[in-house]
Amino acid sequence: MNPPPTSPDFAAQRAAVAAAVEARLQALLADDPRPGEIARPPRLVAAMRHALLGGGKRFRPYLVVASAALFDVPMAAALDAAAAVECLHTYSLVHDDLPAMDDDDLRRGRPTVHRAFDEATAILAGDALLTLAFDVLARDGTHPDPAVRAALVLALARAAGLGGMVGGQMLDLEAERSTFDEAAIRRMQAMKTGALIACCCEMGALLGRAPEPHRAALASYGRELGLAFQIADDLLDLEASAEALGKAAAKDAARGKATLVARLGPAEARAALASAVAACADALAPFGGRAGRLVEAARFAAERPS
Ligand code: IPE
Ligand code: IPE
Ligand code: MG
Ligand code: MG
Repeated sequence: MNPPPTSPDFAAQRAAVAAAVEARLQALLADDPRPGEIARPPRLVAAMRHALLGGGKRFRPYLVVASAALFDVPMAAALDAAAAVECLHTYSLVHDDLPAMDDDDLRRGRPTVHRAFDEATAILAGDALLTLAFDVLARDGTHPDPAVRAALVLALARAAGLGGMVGGQMLDLEAERSTFDEAAIRRMQAMKTGALIACCCEMGALLGRAPEPHRAALASYGRELGLAFQIADDLLDLEASAEALGKAAAKDAARGKATLVARLGPAEARAALASAVAACADALAPFGGRAGRLVEAARFAAERPS
């Protein structure tokens, strides 16, 4: 039998970060308006809670916390940035599932937001989660230095927008109606998934005021990790059940999605996944033995069951 891909320590750390982030997210979506807000429409709060709470691997928050830890930033000091990233990621899933996009009914083991509520509410819940992410990053408590907060905002905006995730989502939809070669698929995936994952790792460097070469090393790790994460997602779509995934399975081929699994076949895609995991470890070389948690995170991304 193969040894388990990650250690019990890694699993415990991941669970601890997930629990701490869950508590931050709960607090963000309280019923009462915050200072500066006029009111919080209960239906919108309910839809945001439905999307954000009680599901999801919380992998991106883990990356923020584990990257920040390389620079001795304690978990508590990285949690607001981690929660912001999870808000943004969750918005992307809510919109990705809409009928106009991937048209999915199941997400994180529950009905998608437009199914549980309605389309307009799902669009608005996504909008509000997206803006909440930047609200949280800009708050004093996220980092004592306003220049660091501004750098976090800029990094997330770049990763999430036109030249990153949203641009990648556009290409993903266009690819349903055209043929993408391997290079085009890699570029599309680097945008739709890799940019945000790389941003999480860079945020750790920003929170820790890391020197530029360390920030660049983490960004490079994050780009390889994003590729690994997306190849694994596409293999799971082919090989796992909807029950295990908490979302639809076997949909990519039916919709004509451009994936490396479709383009290269599962065996070659698995080889590309292994190369990306190896490249993750290489990118972490400047950190030596201190980067063990991030090396394990790459193995987790590749071998996760959901
Ligand atoms: C799903 O992301 C979307 C992709 C980028 C492949 P996750 O697999 O991290 O989803 P959750 O947050 O655990 O639901
Ligand atoms: C999800 O992408 C959203 C983003 C990456 C922005 P996919 O459509 O590839 O992932 P699933 O399978 O719905 O989670
Ligand atoms: Mg999609
Ligand atoms: Mg989708």
